[in-house]
Amino acid sequence: MIKGDKSYNDLLTRINELETKLDESNEIIESIRRGEVDAFIVQNNGTNEIYTLRSADKAFRLFIEKMNQGAVTIGDNGIVLYANTSFAKMVDVPLERVIGQVFLGLIPEAQRQPVSQLIAAAWRDKESRGEITIPGKEGGELPVALYLNQLEIDGGVALGIIASDMSLQKEAQEQKREMEKKDEFITIASHELKTPVTSIKGYIQVLQFNFQQQGNTHAAELLGKVDAQINKLTALISELLDARRIENGQLPLHFDRFDFSALLHEIVEETGRLLPQRLVVEDTTEGVQLFGDRNKLGQVITNIIDNAGKYSPPSSKIIVQAKAEQNILALYVKDQGIGIPRDQQQKIFERFFRVKGKKENTYAGLGLGLYISAEIIFRHQGRIGVESEEGKGSTFYFQLPVIRGENLSASA
Ligand SMILES: Nc1ncnc2c1ncn2[C@@H]1O[C@H](COP(=O)(O)OP(=O)(O)O)[C@@H](O)[C@H]1O
Ligand SMILES: [Mg+2]
Repeated sequence: MIKGDKSYNDLLTRINELETKLDESNEIIESIRRGEVDAFIVQNNGTNEIYTLRSADKAFRLFIEKMNQGAVTIGDNGIVLYANTSFAKMVDVPLERVIGQVFLGLIPEAQRQPVSQLIAAAWRDKESRGEITIPGKEGGELPVALYLNQLEIDGGVALGIIASDMSLQKEAQEQKREMEKKDEFITIASHELKTPVTSIKGYIQVLQFNFQQQGNTHAAELLGKVDAQINKLTALISELLDARRIENGQLPLHFDRFDFSALLHEIVEETGRLLPQRLVVEDTTEGVQLFGDRNKLGQVITNIIDNAGKYSPPSSKIIVQAKAEQNILALYVKDQGIGIPRDQQQKIFERFFRVKGKKENTYAGLGLGLYISAEIIFRHQGRIGVESEEGKGSTFYFQLPVIRGENLSASA
């Protein structure tokens, strides 16, 4: 997922780069044709050679020669007047046998019909464009975009044709579509999972109540464990859904005024059940009010404490410290666990990022908790971060603005 995610962005950048390059080359060729270019500067091993237009002929030729796109000009009789090496390579015919040939004869038979239509359209409308596929070098098919343009040369007319290999763009588009499909799948799957999981949870509670009534504490206890696992599952599903909402810029937050200390103690009690005797709380924020989404901030605290428990030895202490100074409230969660390598301390806040190592692999997780937490804290105008040393432990912290007095501006 991490790799896929990264290459997805890389590919997008790649497409943009390629498109820009293509536009640039087309633009340069156009301006040369229109006579808007007075001189060329050709960079050659660090020296600049300047060609004025008359002497630019050679440089121009070189430039077209070196282009990745195929370039061809054909006369009104359909004979190739000029072609560059890239074009010869595309159609897999030696360059000297391309020039002087009937252009359509160089095109695979199956594509002659659409190409001749493009040629007719270019003669009629001055330009035309389209896409064909030709047999690729290593088998398979090569998608090629064609741009045809009428040229006036010394009183006569010719057609200029630029053929661009689109396989890289195609591949990138394909992968982008695949990623989109995966994302959509995640959304649908998580929604579908939510409903049965919720009803299972309901039944468990009913059963648990019945067993308790009957005095069957053992069964009730076991159901308590089932319930805890269901809660983990629910949390994973919510993480998936929240991550998708963030991606779409649609994570809803409900801002309200609340007492931070009360929230912290609720969360400590909840998370503490799965981390018995491990949480040490130092809270000096009594009475401090925040304006924010209480549930979501609770989710952030839960995630940070969960992580501290998950990535540290079973009986080691976890210190949870909350303080408020001036207008800033800060929460620190300090563990004595495996720590995080310095070069990955920023990355852990990225979507699906998990530290790769033998130790980390033994813990289940999606790598979404901190990504979502960071988003929630940022949306509250806060800061989130970590200080950590490998093998010694980590301190995760966040800071949030405190509200003072009665006038609060509801800037959500
Ligand atoms: N307290 C911690 N100690 C060591 N590593 C941590 C700690 N908290 C988070 N990490 C690292 O950051 C990654 C991302 O955390 P998170 O987004 O919560 O995802 P998850 O816990 O599901 O893997 C984790 O996979 C882990 O590698
Ligand atoms: Mg986590």
